[in-house]
Amino acid sequence: SHFECFWSVYVFLFKTISSLFAGQVQCECPGNTIGIEGGNYTLTNQMHQGSLLVYQCREGYFPFPHRSRQCLHSGKWNPEPDRNLPQRCNLVKCPSPIVLMNGDVYPPAYEYLLGNETTYECYSGYTLKGSSSRICQKNGKWDGRTPTCSEDSGSENICPDPGIPPGARRRGNMFGVDDRVTYSCSEDMILVGSKERTCMENGQWTGREPACYYKHTYDTPEEVAHAFGGAIRESLTTLQSTDDTQEAKKIKILKNGTLNIYIAMDVSGSIEEKYIIDAKKAVKQLMKKISSFTVSPNYDIVFFTSVIHKAVNILHFFDGTVKRDKMADALDKVPIDRGFNEGGVPTPTVARIKNLVYLSNIPGKHDKKREEHLDIYIFGIGAYIYQDDLTPLTVGTEGQHFFKLESLTELNKTFDQMIDESEVMGLCGLHRSYETTDNDAKSMNPWYAEVINGDVKRCFGSLVTTKFILTAAHCFRARDTPEHVKVIIDDEKNSERKVEKFTLHEKFEVGARKNQGVPEFYEYDVALIELKEDVVISNTVRPICIPCTTDTRDALRMNKQSTCKQQEELLLSEDIVQLSFLTKPSDNDHTLKKVLVKNVKAKLRNNREECIKYALKAPNVTTTDVSLIVTDNFLCTGGVDPTIDHIACTGDSGGAVFKDYDYRTIQVGVVSWGTKELCKSGGLVVSEATSRDFHINLFKVLPFLRRILGKDTNEYTPLKFLN
Ligand SMILES: *[C@@H]1O[C@H](CO)[C@@H](O)[C@H](O)[C@H]1NC(C)=O
Ligand SMILES: *[C@@H]1O[C@H](CO)[C@@H](O)[C@H](O)[C@H]1NC(C)=O
Ligand SMILES: *[C@@H]1O[C@H](CO)[C@@H](O)[C@H](O)[C@H]1NC(C)=O
Ligand SMILES: *[C@@H]1O[C@H](CO)[C@@H](O)[C@H](O)[C@H]1NC(C)=O
Ligand SMILES: *[C@@H]1O[C@H](CO)[C@@H](O)[C@H](O)[C@H]1NC(C)=O
Repeated sequence: SHFECFWSVYVFLFKTISSLFAGQVQCECPGNTIGIEGGNYTLTNQMHQGSLLVYQCREGYFPFPHRSRQCLHSGKWNPEPDRNLPQRCNLVKCPSPIVLMNGDVYPPAYEYLLGNETTYECYSGYTLKGSSSRICQKNGKWDGRTPTCSEDSGSENICPDPGIPPGARRRGNMFGVDDRVTYSCSEDMILVGSKERTCMENGQWTGREPACYYKHTYDTPEEVAHAFGGAIRESLTTLQSTDDTQEAKKIKILKNGTLNIYIAMDVSGSIEEKYIIDAKKAVKQLMKKISSFTVSPNYDIVFFTSVIHKAVNILHFFDGTVKRDKMADALDKVPIDRGFNEGGVPTPTVARIKNLVYLSNIPGKHDKKREEHLDIYIFGIGAYIYQDDLTPLTVGTEGQHFFKLESLTELNKTFDQMIDESEVMGLCGLHRSYETTDNDAKSMNPWYAEVINGDVKRCFGSLVTTKFILTAAHCFRARDTPEHVKVIIDDEKNSERKVEKFTLHEKFEVGARKNQGVPEFYEYDVALIELKEDVVISNTVRPICIPCTTDTRDALRMNKQSTCKQQEELLLSEDIVQLSFLTKPSDNDHTLKKVLVKNVKAKLRNNREECIKYALKAPNVTTTDVSLIVTDNFLCTGGVDPTIDHIACTGDSGGAVFKDYDYRTIQVGVVSWGTKELCKSGGLVVSEATSRDFHINLFKVLPFLRRILGKDTNEYTPLKFLN
């Protein structure tokens, strides 16, 4: 068989040069022994040598006894299928909860499976803390918190009972100052969290509660978002760490970044190029998302295939050889072939990072204080992550956090969950990037508002602060009063907001150029509506960023000295700029219709003249001077070149014309008017060759915005504008 394999390798080499010999002799692994009862498998390279077989089971099940096999050189699978232990899908199990000290667990059982419920009771003289009943969940973890039974009286303990997590063993039953407890998990599990904890004088344990993970155990996006998002939120709200004894358990990240993120991506599930490209995309996404929180972490990124590919070395952030803005390039350079092996087992890296942090001049008298400045976040992604390689990373002290996610999709969800937290207050334009339920449509555009005038929806608007809606001036009629006007902010029923007052741009006058051949003149078509009450920011309600504010500067990640002009250059400097605005198919029951995004290209600079000339074709226009109709204060979109744009419909006006910048959204215009009425009932309608839309460029109405939104008053919190 050795000879056969040699021969087939030879042929295989030939195959890449010429297809003449393709498929003649192959060294194949047997296909008849690898099936899985109740599940499926995928192969990366059919039955050829090197091919990786990965088993799949439906949700709530995991492949047993093996998760994958590899076709070896010798034509055998590794591990080899065992007839006495057929491959099958087992119901997910949770680690044994029968570890409670001074209490009982019901029902006692040999193993606990998905959906099993357990209850906990303490002996008399002891009080239960934590959950009194827990259910085994599909990610292989128990819900709730580890129960403990603590003695009611006579105890000399300083620290509370740190508990014993399911599946674990604990050494040490004394909880006085400097007493230590150590944990271990049974052989088929790995320990995640602190292996050893010490009771401190302040009555708290060092480190974090450990947990025992099976290979099929993983963290849900909610769990990761809670832990990781919490850390990032903290960094946004506290710049400098306060007194450390009180806050000992909290994660501290300074805004300018001692956040260290270690990303381990398992791409062993497939060596197909597409999968690896997806994995890289997900990592880039993760980095973008994190930077949208104005945190700039150091990264260490490793891809696991059959060997370890190191994409970005965290140490290079310390010595300055990797610049954050070049990280995406570094990622792209990760080879897809297997001929590259640098990095090795990751532990030494973690040790070296710690060393470097200790050596750098971070304030702190002793090591423990320094350690607080070191947060390492490790993301293991993929159900088949090579756990042996990761083991050294899962056990850590205070600042080391290990998360294991099931798939790339789950990673996407995690980062969107993080921004659901209403505490991420000051961040304008932050939004969800994907949709799973109808309500997500709102959280993808959380600033969107509808302006109701009389009883009909007249216009769109955008939330620009917790108190103000930006819309078009032409949405109001001369006789309108604030009582007439209402605003719908979210899509809950009865969510109409009352209006305190509204202010049109002082220079807006539709009839101003009637006798110059311009029947309707929309210059300065902007208005601000002040609500009676502030809205509450949440994942579905959040202001959009508007130009030349400090918030927008942060969202664009520009430095503190940057100017308003530089924002304009960044957002609107190219000849063609991709912009979007919203629409909604109109219907009497407006609460049920979904908001859709229209995509358009603003034609700027050299392309502008060609775009705006169609304004002369608008109904009843008699002038031949286009600048009388379209001043420099408008953005022009529509037409079919270079791409077919969407066109604004009746009812779209007043809405935000926006540009996405990573995960933040910046409003650059207000939908004002168009040359042709192509759609009365809204929806995604495309432009004709000669139809054009004109939008007020917000950079041109800044004095108006600043005067109202930037006003320092007791009635509302002003926006901070750049000078
Ligand atoms: C296996 O694959 C088939 C077809 O692709 C699919 O219908 C079935 O649901 C899969 N079963 C499992 C357990 O994944
Ligand atoms: C756990 O769940 C399994 C499957 O639903 C069931 O057969 C078993 O009796 C349960 N065991 C316990 C201890 O509740
Ligand atoms: C963060 O920035 C502040 C001021 O810009 C500086 O004083 C401080 O040393 C920086 N901290 C770190 C850890 O770089
Ligand atoms: C994650 O989201 C991005 C954009 O929101 C999408 O392009 C990508 O395909 C998603 N990845 C996965 C694995 O779902
Ligand atoms: C154009 O002018 C005519 C005559 O004054 C008028 O009837 C018509 O409504 C106008 N059309 C538009 C679109 O304003």
